[in-house]
Amino acid sequence: MKIALTSDLHIFATKPKHIEKMFDEAQAEAPDVVIVAGDHNGGGYGYKGSRAIFEIARRYFAGPILACLGNHDYWVQGAKSKLYDPYDSRTPRFKNPNLSEWNYNYQTIKESAKNNNIHLFEEDGIFRFDNIFAIAGHGLWYANIPNSNDALYMPIGVEGDTHRYMYKKTTEALLNQLTHLTDDDIIRVFVSHFPVVEIEERDREWAGDPNLGDMLKEQYGFTKFLNGHTHQNRSGTLRYECGSDYYNPKYKIIEV
Ligand SMILES: [Fe+2]
Repeated sequence: MKIALTSDLHIFATKPKHIEKMFDEAQAEAPDVVIVAGDHNGGGYGYKGSRAIFEIARRYFAGPILACLGNHDYWVQGAKSKLYDPYDSRTPRFKNPNLSEWNYNYQTIKESAKNNNIHLFEEDGIFRFDNIFAIAGHGLWYANIPNSNDALYMPIGVEGDTHRYMYKKTTEALLNQLTHLTDDDIIRVFVSHFPVVEIEERDREWAGDPNLGDMLKEQYGFTKFLNGHTHQNRSGTLRYECGSDYYNPKYKIIEV
């Protein structure tokens, strides 16, 4: 199976025409599937980014397109803040979104995946190809609380602690998905936004849970792990990342 992997396209930070060119080059390599491993969005509203990427990807590739969500895809800009003072850069421009604005974002992403016939791992679970390949996945979340702008664009204190909630919710959803693996799923590939294997010191603050990675390797027999988020270019032993960076979208061909 020939996979074209891309991620971290961050549309609106990255120009759409550069992303279109990247998809055009990727489809010319005739992959069996295209995988977009999250952080579609580069603006203040996650769903606008995801929707734009799903539409572009579908315009360039007629075959299966698989996607998961990244942290930026959960971003929602809340209402304008009354505390904002244009002469004081320490004041917030926007409030954090409330729960209904945040849920609307996710629902809209889900709908645009459906409308563009994109397999969204968070909703659609395991993707199977040619009877022997099983691609499981989920965007997942940080293992450690990040020092990033995520906190500005997500609701405060969801079930007590938004980051803990995201970690727990995404992990539980993945564990549930894995119960659907069968003995026929001989070659197992895993897709996430956050890396979970081959975590080095420099990755630690950006990584997902390495214990989860160990479990996926040892208990579930996944042999290839495709991720995004760290903007690195990597090809194995287990872990693959395409090396997209802001303004510089990239893809990578992986033969499984
Ligand atoms: Fe990310």
